[in-house]
Amino acid sequence: MISMQRVKMSFSGLTLLNDVSFKIEAGERVSLIGPGGSGKSTILKILLGLLAPEGGEVRLMGTDMVTGHEDVKQHTLRKVGMAFQQGALFDFMTVRENLVFAMEHMTEMNPEQMEARVQELLTGVKLGRTADMFPFELSGGMQRRVGIARALCTEPHMAIFDEPTSGLDPVTSTIILNMILALSGTAKEHAQLIVTSNVEIGIRFADRLIVLNEGQIVADGPWRELLVSGPDWVRNFLGVRFIGLDVDYAHELKLPEAFIAQHWSA
Ligand SMILES: Nc1ncnc2c1ncn2[C@@H]1O[C@H](COP(=O)(O)OP(=O)(O)OP(=O)(O)O)[C@@H](O)[C@H]1O
Ligand SMILES: [Mg+2]
Repeated sequence: MISMQRVKMSFSGLTLLNDVSFKIEAGERVSLIGPGGSGKSTILKILLGLLAPEGGEVRLMGTDMVTGHEDVKQHTLRKVGMAFQQGALFDFMTVRENLVFAMEHMTEMNPEQMEARVQELLTGVKLGRTADMFPFELSGGMQRRVGIARALCTEPHMAIFDEPTSGLDPVTSTIILNMILALSGTAKEHAQLIVTSNVEIGIRFADRLIVLNEGQIVADGPWRELLVSGPDWVRNFLGVRFIGLDVDYAHELKLPEAFIAQHWSA
């Protein structure tokens, strides 16, 4: 579904991405995590062909997103549902119009199918009564949920969520994460990627973590293994998040027994 190989990118003479390589296969659910400003959103822009890397190869569902023909790239992007970090709803369109606009451009659905999908998705994100409202009439968390509904309404083969919960309170974050898990990931041939700097959101979304730091992928694997036996920086980055948690919550998150024994023993 996704292949990035040796991708390089710099801004103002400073290296941001230095040799980024990873692959995501069909049927996978993956969290890409890294500290704020480490280049996560930049990776997504390169993946979608919105930004040209200085080096490396980028393939999205078989399409070369660096050298590919514009028409071919556009065709591929129609199969991707992307929820941007900044929401990116059109302010001059109602919630319904935002969703319909996406479906008109990316699917072959007829108007009745689109309206049914609007109702289904808005109900899914618990915003069934907002179809005729404008984005400015909604709270930040509600706008984020509309962004998720818009990303998924086109039944994408690949769904990508950039920081779906950043800046939101823990309760709203949990609601959003559970909605993404409930709404996406029905078909085996599809893939989902969450990008976040929030370790807890990352591990609750997927078993497989790809960890970015200082321009490189520093770990890629099941998070429980990385937490116990990953490289020092990775163990620390993941582990500090859990310091001081209630031990019951540590069990609820299904943290590895070895980690719990080490950090919660008297
Ligand atoms: N088009 C651009 N021009 C110049 N600098 C840019 C551009 N895009 C990103 N940057 C810089 O690259 C760095 C990484 O940005 P990016 O948004 O990829 O990080 P991030 O990991 O997504 O951060 P966050 O966790 O805050 O979302 C930032 O310092 C940003 O200012
Ligand atoms: Mg970002």
